[in-house]
Parts: sequence; C-alpha cells; structure tokens
Amino acid sequence: MPVPTGPVDLGLLPSTAVVGADGRLSIGGCDVGELAEAHGTPLFVYDEAHLRASCRDAVAAWGDGVAYATKAFLCVAMARLAYEEGMCLDVSTGGELHVALTAGVPADRLVLHGNNKSTEELAAALSVGVGRIVVDSFDEIDRIEHLVADPTAIDGGPEDAEPPVRWRPRVLVRVTPGVEVHTHEFVRTGQEDSKFGFGLASGAATRAVDRLAALDAAGVVELVGVHAHLGSQVFALEPFAQAVDVLAGFFAPLGLSELVVGGGLGVAYVNGEQAPPMAEWAASVREACRRAGIADTVRVTAEPGRSIVAAAGVTLYTVGTVKDVPGHRTYVSVDGGMSDNPRPVLYGSGYEAFLPRETDAPRPMPIRLVGKHCETGDVVVADGFVPADLSVGDLLCTPVTGAYGHSMASNYNKVPRPSVVFVADGSARTVVRRETFDDLVRLDV
Ligand code: LLP
Repeated sequence: MPVPTGPVDLGLLPSTAVVGADGRLSIGGCDVGELAEAHGTPLFVYDEAHLRASCRDAVAAWGDGVAYATKAFLCVAMARLAYEEGMCLDVSTGGELHVALTAGVPADRLVLHGNNKSTEELAAALSVGVGRIVVDSFDEIDRIEHLVADPTAIDGGPEDAEPPVRWRPRVLVRVTPGVEVHTHEFVRTGQEDSKFGFGLASGAATRAVDRLAALDAAGVVELVGVHAHLGSQVFALEPFAQAVDVLAGFFAPLGLSELVVGGGLGVAYVNGEQAPPMAEWAASVREACRRAGIADTVRVTAEPGRSIVAAAGVTLYTVGTVKDVPGHRTYVSVDGGMSDNPRPVLYGSGYEAFLPRETDAPRPMPIRLVGKHCETGDVVVADGFVPADLSVGDLLCTPVTGAYGHSMASNYNKVPRPSVVFVADGSARTVVRRETFDDLVRLDV
C-alpha cells in the first residue's frame, strides 16, 4: 500500500506530464506554474495528446461506433477532438446535441440518449438525422411515431420542420438488465428499480421491442439493437460480463445487429487505485458475448466518458488561506471548490492534492482542502496530505479532474466558472474562456 504521506503517484498525472529536476511539473510541454500565471486560477488543464490517445485506444478496443459520452466533459474543442479521433459522440440532451453540431460533428456520428427526451429534442435529432436514438420509454416511442408521421402535429413540435420528416431513425432499446454494480448508488443504473430504460424482468423490454419491431415493419424506425448501461466508475469487469449473460437471452433471438454495453469503466483517482485498461474491458465483454453465443457479426460497442477524459485533466488552484484549528485540523482554502468539482460533495469522491512546484515531494502535513463557498460541505479533499512548506499563494494541483468536473460546474455563490486550456507541444490554447462577472448577469432581464 502507498504511504499516504508519500508523493502523489505520478501515474495519476496526464501522459505528457514531466517532473523536472527541480520538481516543477509541466504538461504538454508547458510549465504548470506559467500556465496559472498566464490564464489565472482555478484552471482546468487538459493534455491534448492524452485525450487523443484515449480516443484512439477506445476506437482500437471497440471498433467503429464506440461513442464518447459527452456528459463527462463537453465543449466545442472536445467534441471536435473526439470526432477527429474516430469516435461517435453520445449526447443526452438538446444542449449536448447543439454543442456537438456546433463543433461540426456530422449528425450521423451522434447517438441521442435521455430518459426524458422532449418532443423538441427528438424533433431536432430527427431533422438533422442523428445516427442512433436510444429509446428509453413508451412515451418516447409515441413521440417518435408521431413526429416521424407528421412533425407539425405534435404540441410543441417545430412549426417550421419540413413536414413530413421522412427520416427513418435507427433506434436501440435501452434495457435495464437487473445487474447491480458496486459503485455509488447515485451513479448505478443497471438495476431493475431505475428511471432508465425498460426492465427485462418485468417484460417491459419485450413490449418495447414488440412495439418498435412493428414500427420498423411499418417503415417508421429501423430497430437496430439493444443498449444497457450499468453504472459509472466501475472497477470490476465481471458485472459487464454478467450483464452480457443476462442480455444475451433477450438479445440473441431478436436477430438485431448492435449491442451496446454503455459506459462505466472506472479510473484511478488516488494513490494505490488501479483500473482496468480500455482494451481489457472490451476484450472481456467480447469474450462474454462469444461465450453467450452472440454472433460475431453483431457490432458490440460501448460509450466511455470518464475513462476518456478524467486522467487527461488537472485543476490548478491558488491557496488563499491556511487555518489551523487546534485539536482538529488544518484547513487549506483554494479559490474554487464545489462549483468546479462537486464530486466530493455529491459522491464522497477522493482526490489527491500536491504542489506542482515540488511535484515529487513527500506530503507529511495532513490537511482538509476546502473551497471558497459558503458551506461546510464545500470540501475538495477531506483528508489530504501536502508538503509541510505549503503556504498562502502557492499553486496547488488536483489531478484526475477531467471528467464530471467542468461539466458539472456551477456558478454557486456567483463564482465564475474556470477556463479550460488544452496543452500540447509546448503551447496552450484556451478552449473555454473564464466567465466574467458580466457573464454572471447576462441572463438577468
Ligand atoms: N452511457 C450512458 C447511458 C450513461 O448514462 C453514462 C454516464 C455513460 C455512458 C458514461 O459513463 P462513464 O464512462 O463516464 O462512467 N456525475 C457522475 C457520473 C454520472 C454518469 C452518468 N452516466 C460522477 O461524477 O461520478
């Protein structure tokens, strides 16, 4: 087991991270201290080479059709990058769809998700011709049926849609296989008691397939496959194989051509954690499919989000106060917090913290790393360790913040959201600018 007071495990850092002889950290050939000076803090720094390599790994492991789950981190630059590296994109709202289209991603490379897709969202997806729609409820089937027949007949439908939309969407049925994974209950989705998809055990999945098969026969949709997503931050591969076993009995007789096992591959966040590589995940799912008798002509694929972006990103903060509370602990406050990383508050997630001016230094001083928000729960690292010479004004780095940090960021306490820079080959480009105070009032009327 790693010593908690040892240096941060360098394996948690983005792949181009280099620690100089003086202990200073650079990523993508850019000195992290200089990045903070040039761009301010808090700052999300993404290693572009790492992002690209993750996408390529996913395509190599799963083949064509593997989709990046954009909810993990999305901006125009990220959408473009994932597309350029050969991934499809999973979008789960009209907003994510809009960003992906703005990035120039062709609609047929998009997969539309969501347990409550509105008529407007479905109409937008149909009118641009998204590649796949993963159908999640009977209400949604009604909406698709009506929209395809006549988009103007729907309350709230697009007045100016070209009637009738004769696009015949390719659809998959989202199924909850009843397999539970050992992850935080908020991010568990494969169990029967879920707001997502159609239950296998209840027979809902069969009824959904029957309805969609009838719509397929009528030329309204093209039913191509089955989808299941078990949960997120899953370290063990067995639940995926177990889900394949459960799904196979349902899927194989349908004679459909696509099976999607969702996302969920876990990543290491703190020293000592280890997650399986993408290739192993894909290989174990494929092996389970083979064992379960799923034909090898079936396109078996996945939708990784976290495992593509988490370790490619770090957050830089500036230390603002160091407060020793005798008999209890030392609080180190930084200039962000739950507004740029709500994961510790929401899921009790752990992170490492270190000083990028002495990246590989031991960290003997126990601290609680907190943000600047007006509540006690605003914790970034509940029980962290830092070098003993940490002081006010220091730059502090939390690694593995590339997933579900920026994408879940808020303006709580009217804190402007950080900017995002992509670094590569010694240069940094801002891909999302920092919000200004003016941005904080631009929606007020
Ligand atoms: N596909 C579907 C249908 C999903 O619902 C999700 C994540 C993914 C793929 C991608 O899963 P990933 O590979 O990223 O685990 N905010 C939480 C995570 C919520 C995940 C929601 N769905 C967190 O910060 O841990």
